[in-house]
Amino acid sequence: MIMHTIIDLIEKKQQGKELTRNELRDFVLGYHRGEVPDYQMAAFLMAVYFRGMTPEETSALLDTMVESGVKLKWEGLNGPVVDKHSTGGVGDKISLMLAPLLVADGCYVPMISGRGLGHTGGTLDKLDAIPGFRTRVSLEEIKSLLPRIGCVLAGQTAELAPADRKMYSLRDVTSTVRAVPLITASILSKKCSEGLNGLVIDLKVGHGAFSDTKEFAEKLAQALYENATRADISTRILLTAMDTPIGRTIGNWLETREAIEWLHGRSDLIEVNELTLSLGAEVLDAVGKGPFDAAYQRLEGYWKSGCGVEIFAKIVAAQGGDADVIFHPEKMPNAPIIKTVTASRDGYLNGADALWFGKAGVILGAGRRVVSDSVDPLAGFVFLKAWGDFVKAGEPIVEVHGSNETAVADVIRDLPQSLTIESERKVLSSWVLARHEGKSF
Ligand code: URA
Repeated sequence: MIMHTIIDLIEKKQQGKELTRNELRDFVLGYHRGEVPDYQMAAFLMAVYFRGMTPEETSALLDTMVESGVKLKWEGLNGPVVDKHSTGGVGDKISLMLAPLLVADGCYVPMISGRGLGHTGGTLDKLDAIPGFRTRVSLEEIKSLLPRIGCVLAGQTAELAPADRKMYSLRDVTSTVRAVPLITASILSKKCSEGLNGLVIDLKVGHGAFSDTKEFAEKLAQALYENATRADISTRILLTAMDTPIGRTIGNWLETREAIEWLHGRSDLIEVNELTLSLGAEVLDAVGKGPFDAAYQRLEGYWKSGCGVEIFAKIVAAQGGDADVIFHPEKMPNAPIIKTVTASRDGYLNGADALWFGKAGVILGAGRRVVSDSVDPLAGFVFLKAWGDFVKAGEPIVEVHGSNETAVADVIRDLPQSLTIESERKVLSSWVLARHEGKSF
């Protein structure tokens, strides 16, 4: 496309006008091929950030991102192809817990995940903490692993929605992530490329999520639902709380270890159990393996039987990981520095500031500031108490794991203010705030 046309398209969006499907397609595929430079795409993304997109533009953007790569097609499988996607949280290890249970129920799960950036963690970093595990899996390998193992846990390959990959990196450094049409097309381009029958989206809402208001989350849920349905993926969306970290750990290996322990069928964290099993039951119901209550009970049965550990070990071994670590997580080393923080007063530990803990995790090395940073798999936090537990002043409540004395000291200095200890017990009875199935909330 000639230069003045690209400028015209940027101007058109700047003025809030609607681009045609062909105009968007030329722009995005031109960028993917390297004909449109980063600076023009950055200007366009900023125009979209402020002006938004019509539903037609959003669906054209999604279709073009999928068209930039390969769309997987699954034939001859004896169960539905499903996935679960989280928009990103702190302490969110639910994908690792849920995928084996969905396999136990006869589903196939080609889970393409991302790395953590900023304060939220990424499933790939948690998997990388398992010695030997390969998250770089070629398209050919994905095609051979899924029918045999039932699940692949991998990163986005160069063939799956490559235009999204390039645009997402640019959005990250131009502060244009938080835009409903861009998020919708980005998330769903990967999901459409996976060739799914069913999808459940865990749309995080709260202080620790990029959807920090319910209003934004509802708009995003509606756009995700409409576009996924149009792409013929039977989709459910749960809006779930992200003000307090999920579970008892934050940090890559610490979270993987918690997921393994959970898969043994033991956990007293009622909200985590309910959240995980609800997400699973939704997607099973979406692909005709419901109704929800029956699916929930089946998943609970697999969970309590501990069969998820065997399935997880099989997935790990198939991708080159050390399955022995799954059966004996105690064999993994601890971070060289572990310090304990105690309660400053008597009261109920009602929560912790997810955003603060996510950012503090980055200081400890558990997350990255820029894409090229490496992460420390052993760094992070272990909560020694559950949310809502009564704690006494001086009682140990959080362990800080790290390898850098200064970073650990900095984190410990500010940590007590990030815990909510109150005289009355105030915890959510469920972390599922709302359920979206195409109707208004
Ligand atoms: N996750 C994605 O894959 N894309 C976004 O735009 C936001 C979250």
